[in-house]
Amino acid sequence: MTLPPGPSAPAAVQTVEWIARPTDLLRRSAARYGEPFTLRTQWADAPMVLVWDPDTIKRVYAAPPDVLRGGASSTVLEPFAGPSSILLTSGATHLRQRKLVLPPFHGERMQAHRATVAALAEEEVARWTPGRPLRTLPRMQELTLDVILRVVFGAPDPRLRAEIRTALDMTTSLSRLISMSFAPRGSAPWRPFLRAVARVDATLREAIRTRREAADHDAPAVLDELIAAGAAEDELRDQVVTLLAAGHETTAGSLAWALERIARHPPVAARLRDGDDAYLDATVKEVLRLRPVLSITPRKVVAPFTVGAWTLPPGVHVTPCPYLAHRRPELWPDSSAFRPERFLDGAPSPYAWLPFGGGVRRCVGAAFATMELHEVLRVVVRRFALAPDRPAGERMRRRGVTLTPARGGRVVPLACARRRNRLGASG
Ligand code: HEM
Repeated sequence: MTLPPGPSAPAAVQTVEWIARPTDLLRRSAARYGEPFTLRTQWADAPMVLVWDPDTIKRVYAAPPDVLRGGASSTVLEPFAGPSSILLTSGATHLRQRKLVLPPFHGERMQAHRATVAALAEEEVARWTPGRPLRTLPRMQELTLDVILRVVFGAPDPRLRAEIRTALDMTTSLSRLISMSFAPRGSAPWRPFLRAVARVDATLREAIRTRREAADHDAPAVLDELIAAGAAEDELRDQVVTLLAAGHETTAGSLAWALERIARHPPVAARLRDGDDAYLDATVKEVLRLRPVLSITPRKVVAPFTVGAWTLPPGVHVTPCPYLAHRRPELWPDSSAFRPERFLDGAPSPYAWLPFGGGVRRCVGAAFATMELHEVLRVVVRRFALAPDRPAGERMRRRGVTLTPARGGRVVPLACARRRNRLGASG
């Protein structure tokens, strides 16, 4: 099988790099082999061809499922998400599931959660101590998990929250991720994780049963709608776990990146404090461009698919790469600089800016996540000025499938001068 060129190191070596130095691997391969290039890792059952020019990305996202199939490339997520998760299904089943979970995360239903997000963010920052360095990633994980638990279950569930965090935190350790990548499921390196998932499952099934038996709810949560649509218990479990995990790890990582970047760019922070909503939106877009927490959005080739001079055969994966697409120098001048201003002139092309993927698999929670990012950042910058704990920015580090700040997005919250003045003047 002739595929585009790529690193010649064995798949085992590429897997370790994919886990330990993902962005180095992407940048180095792009510089050396050009577009497209092929990676081979233990995370996929076949080679993966990476593309990042807007025309090819458009064709990938528009391809019908009998040419490129979504879901088939996410099997690495199966032990947690479950086989009937929307991340893994395709065709009619996938579309039915999307129809069911999209509405609660859009329009008025989404707006109804705006005040809750702001209130939870206020509670969170009220716990920050001025002058004391803070790892924002775990703080944001707790906050975004609280938000998504409320949307999915209608109420917080402390036990479920703790169990989900325990399971997901196991994907933080690089050595654990590496040993799990090389071991068959069920073998020793997997057992602690699988035990943690089993605990999540038991609590979740109990919560689902309780909710099912409860009387009518005033404001139906996503779970109530899935129940009303007749989803069986296994499918309910898979959908709920997927929404809880996909709906908070990504948003938390993006928020931690936003705070890490803003702390190193005082003029951006100052402009955000002025309360300019267009600039806030531009800042969110720039964070998602420069630090996309998901670096690939793969599809499996079902019928031969052409990329440049190559015809990719069925069985391999082809994947748009947001990380590389967001760094194309001709589309993004000075592409590694953090410059929200670049988004003030209008909406970016969906094939040049793709932090949420595209086509029929585009992120279900894109609008919701954007709303969360807006609300939380608004609350933080109003209350605190942020300083970096050291000058150098943080590297992108793998946590499961997401790329998050290597040192947890450390910042030092400082009382805002303006707020201090106001308090001083009134007191
Ligand atoms: C900043 C935060 C987020 C980012 C960067 C993000 C990014 C993504 C990306 C790149 C995909 C794959 C799209 C593709 O393959 O084309 C995806 C899928 C998905 N996301 Fe998000 N996401 C975020 C937040 C959320 C939230 C809050 C939810 C909660 C509902 C969510 C639920 C999902 C689901 C269910 C899918 C699977 C969609 C499908 O396969 O049809 N995501 N997300």
